Amino acid sequence: MKNTLLKVENLSKAYAPGEIVWQNVNFDLGRGDFLYILGGSGAGKSSLLRTLSSFEQPSGGKILFQGQDLLSTSHTDLERIRKKIAFIPQNLGLIPDLNLRDHLEMSQLSISKAERTDEAVMANYLNMMGLKNKLNKKMSELSGGERQRVAILRALSKKADILIADEPTGAQDFEMTWKLMDLFVKLNLSGTTLLLATHDLEMVRRLRKRCAILKDGNFKVEDRT
Ligand SMILES: Nc1ncnc2c1ncn2[C@@H]1O[C@H](COP(=O)(O)OP(=O)(O)OP(=O)(O)O)[C@@H](O)[C@H]1O
Ligand SMILES: [Mg+2]
Repeated sequence: MKNTLLKVENLSKAYAPGEIVWQNVNFDLGRGDFLYILGGSGAGKSSLLRTLSSFEQPSGGKILFQGQDLLSTSHTDLERIRKKIAFIPQNLGLIPDLNLRDHLEMSQLSISKAERTDEAVMANYLNMMGLKNKLNKKMSELSGGERQRVAILRALSKKADILIADEPTGAQDFEMTWKLMDLFVKLNLSGTTLLLATHDLEMVRRLRKRCAILKDGNFKVEDRT
């Protein structure tokens, strides 16, 4: 039997009574799994990923992380679980007046040294993402693509069990997109579970992985063929 990391049961979301965004969401992910979340604009990808990352509450159903129910767990346990989830939100969640170094330091505040990505690895990522000389730049002084890479870097600064990424290359050029995808695949091959929302079907064609599709409020995981 596979080692289940995340199990989602009958999850549903409505922002207003009767206005269902998605329902009957059922799937599970093991260690080292890779699942794309596909769906058109407004289909519900971001709201689902925010919910799975525990930034938002579902309207119904269960989310089990290593068997622990995210919705009924204690505050302390939730904080512990959050350390194991790296999330790259679509809206990035960066603070305009703070610089890159501030963002990296803030992301490390509540985690121990053992839970942090090694400094040498982080230095490599900084270099690879072209951000080495931008440590003192405020977010308001960076380009859209650079800001997105800061959000990626921040998510990668902790050793997470799962990386939940919401269109993480949406603002990148072709070359950077594939450098980043290459990095995500390497992390995945070394055991990090990956949940990646995109509507880039070209990416899905080039990098074949299991797909789940959100459409008209329904969620369907494609067969593994
Ligand atoms: N905080 C909110 N309050 C009310 N409705 C919301 C909220 N967030 C999202 N929605 C609605 O939920 C639906 C799904 O939005 P979501 O952002 O999850 O879509 P998406 O698939 O990520 O779209 P995109 O590809 O454009 O990013 C949309 O109709 C949106 O209006
Ligand atoms: Mg979205």
